[in-house]
Amino acid sequence: MTSELKQLAAQLPKAELHIHIEGSLEPAMMFELAARNDVTLPYPDVESITKAYNFNCLQDFLDLYYQGMSVLQTKQDFFDLTWAYLLRCHQQNVVHCEIFFDPQGHTERDVGFEVFMGGICKALDKAESELGISSKLIMCFLRHLDEQSALDTLDAANPYLDRIAAVGLDSSERGHPPRLFQNVFARAAGLGLKRVAHAGEEGPPDYVYEALDLLQVDRIDHGNRSLEDEELVKRLVAAKMPLTVCPQSNLRLAVVGDMSDHPIREMLALGLNACVNSDDPAYFGGYMNENYNALIDATGLTHDEIFQLTINGFESSFLSPSEKQAHLDRINAMR
Ligand code: ADE
Ligand code: ZN
Repeated sequence: MTSELKQLAAQLPKAELHIHIEGSLEPAMMFELAARNDVTLPYPDVESITKAYNFNCLQDFLDLYYQGMSVLQTKQDFFDLTWAYLLRCHQQNVVHCEIFFDPQGHTERDVGFEVFMGGICKALDKAESELGISSKLIMCFLRHLDEQSALDTLDAANPYLDRIAAVGLDSSERGHPPRLFQNVFARAAGLGLKRVAHAGEEGPPDYVYEALDLLQVDRIDHGNRSLEDEELVKRLVAAKMPLTVCPQSNLRLAVVGDMSDHPIREMLALGLNACVNSDDPAYFGGYMNENYNALIDATGLTHDEIFQLTINGFESSFLSPSEKQAHLDRINAMR
């Protein structure tokens, strides 16, 4: 039974809406790029990197995530990183992806927009023409930095706005509430950009309210802690607000204690518009299908729920209505 469900999840066309491209940097590639760029990593080998991926909270992970991205220095590095992720998408029937990137994690190391945008966009264009994978880019602001840095980043992105669909807000959530980024989100809205924000991963339900009311977001990334507030749940359901949920990330960052306690089924039962995503697959033990498999093994996810989650993924995307419908027709033909 579970193997049939896993086969179904693997075969369905899927959209991934919550993936940090820097979080798809596999240890083997980290090592390869470190050698190529003469960067010394504080690990002797790939195995010891993987062993270090033992996190008690979001910050434990972020410390290694920022250290890891220091090997990304040239356009070719960003191309290789993005292409490797897109090949995984192709293997797993992820046919549309909306990818986060963290400019400030690169510009603060003097790696400029032309370098990472050049490499990432080249891979996205190749995937569109050679693999039939469509994509959009979401530029995230690091919330542990101040709003002025985010505003400067939005200015620096100006020549690339035709390649950027949305802005996002990520990094250390606690103590860095969405209200601190109202001005930069308003400016992004004025430029015609969509808006998303990580909220309710570790932060309280209040941060989800702030993302909705003060940042006017189109999606909430994670949103798990919304379940603590009944009124908030009602509001999210009424608005059909997408929650981009990341099960293996939630387990590895101790947002849930055990995968069997993951609230994805409860979310669906409440009428929440949740979908499945990998977040930082190289750090959390897998890509899209591994996330479905973990839910199937641990939560009793059903055939209908798997369909619902994949439908929610496309419906919550920034694709046009006709593009969404084409994907939904393919999914419904597999019922
Ligand atoms: N940056 C990369 N992954 C993240 C996550 N899960 N939460 C916040 N910031 C992140
Ligand atoms: Zn994330």
